[in-house]
Amino acid sequence: MPRPKVFITRKIADSGIQLLKKTCDVRIYPQNQPIPRQELLRGVKWCDALLPLLTERIDKEVLDANPKLKIVANYAVGFDNIDVTSATSKSIPVTNTPGVLEDAVAEHTFALLFAISKHLVEADRFTRRGKYKSWEPLLFLGPQLKGKVLGIVGLGRIGSSVAEKARAMGMQVTYTDVQRNPAFEKKFQARFVSKEVLLKTADFVSLHVPLLPATRHLIGAKELRMMKKTAYLINTSRGPVVDERALVRALQKKMIAGAGLDVYEFEPKLAPGLNKLPNVILTPHTASATLEARQAMSVIAAKNILAVLRGKKAPHAVNPEVYKKR
Ligand code: DGY
Repeated sequence: MPRPKVFITRKIADSGIQLLKKTCDVRIYPQNQPIPRQELLRGVKWCDALLPLLTERIDKEVLDANPKLKIVANYAVGFDNIDVTSATSKSIPVTNTPGVLEDAVAEHTFALLFAISKHLVEADRFTRRGKYKSWEPLLFLGPQLKGKVLGIVGLGRIGSSVAEKARAMGMQVTYTDVQRNPAFEKKFQARFVSKEVLLKTADFVSLHVPLLPATRHLIGAKELRMMKKTAYLINTSRGPVVDERALVRALQKKMIAGAGLDVYEFEPKLAPGLNKLPNVILTPHTASATLEARQAMSVIAAKNILAVLRGKKAPHAVNPEVYKKR
């Protein structure tokens, strides 16, 4: 029997690749850059299972390119890069990598939060440049975190992990979501509030929603105006959740104290002016970039593929309805 074929759109952490190689022929797009569209289409036509990254748009054209495609196993927990409706209509399971990157993303959320509120990048630059001449009582002042309110927008696994870490530092937690979670409230003494109340009262607002039509520009000019002048916005979810041009204007006018961003509305491009602002810290979508998370994501993607190739249900299908239709 011929071995099944798996196409991976860019080199990923090795553990899942090794797992796949035991029973499958694996082809990986060899360049360290997002795969060009034509190469992607060629790869899809060749394979039984596709393992793309969040940088690839897996739309109807891609799915149409191979009527025998058995699975799209995204190397990410977010899957807004995939036309899931089209995949479902073709009975193709789409999978993601949940349950392994919450801590990585929550830790990065705090890395951004610390870095921006404690002026770490500026202070480092200042010190390296020999500007540190004497101890100064008013140099690089910022808020203490203990006792401050962290407002979590979107209480999934990542939001919960952020809450856990916030509580460990003595922060108060508020949250908003489409539904309440009483167990979470009890565990972390968290307060459920409306989006408006959260924005008006939080010292730090941290975004953890998936990108959906309803969450696009969830934070725009109006919402930024609601935030305290002393508050910080942290985004490790998806760029288009924030109206980035409105954020640049808000930061220029010092309507809020600062922002920590790992994701961008026009990724990998930045909205004009963003990179000139001193009150923002920027990272290149690396929130899940721990060695542990990236290896675990690789294994999960591989396991989803192997299950489907063996005629089983994918453990992490985001469109489980494909199995009902059969
Ligand atoms: C995800 O998995 O969706 C993350 O954005 C990758 O870092």
